[in-house]
Amino acid sequence: EKGGYDHFMLKEIYEQPRAIHDTYRGRLLADEGYIRMSGIDHNIERFLNANRIIIVACGTSWHAGLVAEYIFEDLARIPVEVEYASEFRYRNPVITEKDILIAVSQSGETADTLAAIKMAKEKGAFVFGVCNVVGSSIARETHAGAYTHAGPEIGVASTKAFTTQITVLTMIALKLAKEKGEFSQSKYHEFLTELEGIPQKVEKALKSNDLVEKIAEVYKDSTNCLYLGRGYNFPVALEGALKLKEISYIHAEGYPAAEMKHGPIALIDEEMPVVVIATRKGHYEKVVSNIQEIKSRSGKIIAIVTEGDETVKDIADHVVEVPESSEALTPLLTTIPLQLLSYHIALMRGCNVDQPRNLAKSVTVE
Ligand code: M6R
Repeated sequence: EKGGYDHFMLKEIYEQPRAIHDTYRGRLLADEGYIRMSGIDHNIERFLNANRIIIVACGTSWHAGLVAEYIFEDLARIPVEVEYASEFRYRNPVITEKDILIAVSQSGETADTLAAIKMAKEKGAFVFGVCNVVGSSIARETHAGAYTHAGPEIGVASTKAFTTQITVLTMIALKLAKEKGEFSQSKYHEFLTELEGIPQKVEKALKSNDLVEKIAEVYKDSTNCLYLGRGYNFPVALEGALKLKEISYIHAEGYPAAEMKHGPIALIDEEMPVVVIATRKGHYEKVVSNIQEIKSRSGKIIAIVTEGDETVKDIADHVVEVPESSEALTPLLTTIPLQLLSYHIALMRGCNVDQPRNLAKSVTVE
């Protein structure tokens, strides 16, 4: 059942090229320059006339929502708010009939997300679901939706759910951007073709496994770890930190790289590993200077860089390469070595990778 892998988590990490492919199969028609998603197609006017999109979710799904915020605003120019479902439902939010709520949930059973949907519906919002489990409570409660088609995710630490949620949300953003006239047909076509090529790039990113395992060996006894990223990769930093803390029980925090000097930099010493996402497209120079600031305080740098990078290699203690891509699609690649890092560290610490203590796969109580 684990397909020859030692753990479901590792199997699910390695399934990502196929899972992402299954997510866009039959929807992304790159040659024709078209994205077909019935849940969006049938409600296109509603999306185009929406005042804003509110994304609600918990945990990893919330991180996918944060990535989507960058994509929707950057490409489709639609205002987006991303909320923890648990906060949103209890803070008497302003919701109107011109708002669209997108609920993101792997299991489709998360109690807070379900409750947020019910509340938004009562206030007249249109509710769209992005779920993995077919026929789940959230899938049934929403007005329309798009499944991720990632296949069953058994490991408590969410991996392929994250990348397939981002894939669905990216397709929605691209489709809306095109409909709104934000894209020329040729730019659109270019994006669709690039998205179609992501599974091969994820496959390549997975080849970093042996290197990441060696890095894990060096830091497995750390008590803390920081994750930094900017722009599209800030949510990836949050996700990397969540992965490490939930399965290895090492305290980890994700931060926007530029926030370092507003507090967390005080934590840096030679004992502190700092994972920095420093891909070429997206604030590269600024991230490089953030890396220098950490280095000059003796922090240990594990950098996720674009293939062929030379600058960061000279400063960082370790570099892990991912294939080049446009900035909007980097989260699908940069997240891979972070998943592998948490997996190997947890394993070396003797933790139960698939069933971490105190956690359940779906949180059906608030
Ligand atoms: O099933 P959902 O996507 O609604 O679950 C949300 C969170 O409970 C989930 O992502 C959780 O944070 C994972 N354990 C993260 O790996």
